[in-house]
Amino acid sequence: MKIAVYGSGGREHALVDSFVSSGHEVVVFPGNPGIAEIAEISPGPFESIEADLYVIGPEAPLVDGIADRLRDLGKLVVGPGRVGAQLEGSKAWMKEILHSAGIPTASFRTFTDSKSAIEYLNSYPGPYVIKTDGLAAGKGVLVTTDRDEAIFDVTEKLSGHSFGSAGTKVVIEEAMEGPEISVLVLCDGHKGFALPPASDFKRIYDNDLGPNTGGMGAFSPVPGVGPELIDRVINESIDPLIKEFIRRGIDYRGILYAGLMLTSNGPKVVEFNIRFGDPETQVVVPRIQNDLAKLLYQLAQGELKTKPEVIDEAVVTVVLAAEGYPERPIPGAQISIDSTSLDPDVRIYHAGTKSLSSGELVVAGGRVLNVTATGKDLRAARELAYKTISSIRFENMQYRSDIALRASENG
Ligand code: AMP
Ligand code: GLY
Repeated sequence: MKIAVYGSGGREHALVDSFVSSGHEVVVFPGNPGIAEIAEISPGPFESIEADLYVIGPEAPLVDGIADRLRDLGKLVVGPGRVGAQLEGSKAWMKEILHSAGIPTASFRTFTDSKSAIEYLNSYPGPYVIKTDGLAAGKGVLVTTDRDEAIFDVTEKLSGHSFGSAGTKVVIEEAMEGPEISVLVLCDGHKGFALPPASDFKRIYDNDLGPNTGGMGAFSPVPGVGPELIDRVINESIDPLIKEFIRRGIDYRGILYAGLMLTSNGPKVVEFNIRFGDPETQVVVPRIQNDLAKLLYQLAQGELKTKPEVIDEAVVTVVLAAEGYPERPIPGAQISIDSTSLDPDVRIYHAGTKSLSSGELVVAGGRVLNVTATGKDLRAARELAYKTISSIRFENMQYRSDIALRASENG
């Protein structure tokens, strides 16, 4: 099969790696230097690529309606159309749909003017959770116990200073507590099949300190999260969401990414995303035994037949980030990778890299590389990932040293 993939990150590199390993022909737009080593890069536009299946990586083009445009041309697409993409494109829309479908999630209120938002914040002791309505690359959420900070944040967001028009509506929600997991679900418009669960690390520094990022690492499986819990998530959160979509005339064919908090009252939805997670994909996809492209083809046709089979091995990915990430990543540092002694169980997925005409590889984004290792358990996978990092260098490289640490001690 010939597959067109949209995107340029570690997530897309991992997907392309999986498709190519299963013998498919893959064309990518815009791609990155790592992807260019294993697949063809298209100069674009994406819609002009001729392929049997179109897989869209990031959320922005989906929110912009790329899947509708491709379907109008008669193409098979993995990704929701513009209306379904509002699930990630608008937190207020997502919360409203979860509420209508009776899905367990934090209670919430939506505000467009700061006076009533501040009055609301003054009416309870906290903690406060304030979210920008529109797309904010994972950086539009404040969780705080400090009311003054919450009031300042709401005022800034609603003034349009922080996120422009994406921020002129905010959702203020009840604070939940508990460990978080990510469950990616293949959805064909009628039903959902869960992929193995993953855990990601959102903060930049060890011990979950510092600002939020797009994700600094991930692992799968997640100790304590077995098939019973996943069934519960499917029954309580995924099936009702798909039913609600059908009720509203939305034919959602794509990935449903459930970000869940395992609270003392059971799993509750923190957010839904409309695409494969990054870096979750890097640890989930290598654990799928089937030909993933075939499952995605069935999904795009609207009839998933094959359930994902999962291998027992564990996968850990550690993100190597640029100096200055997440606030202001500094581009240009030269990257050296000693690939002579790379273990066959390791993949180095590219995210923010660029290849100069001189052949040098340099930093060109916040998250630069994803070192992904497979092992018999989390401990082995984690050790291999960290051992590999010592063969990679660029100036002021940042990475967390505690990815999968606690889980590998408990698992
Ligand atoms: P989101 O972009 O909605 O996933 O939020 C980013 C992060 O903020 C989540 O991964 C949680 O760690 C935290 N968060 C979001 N909503 C809540 C909530 N209602 N209660 C506690 N923490 C939250
Ligand atoms: N890892 C978080 C995300 O993909 O949104």
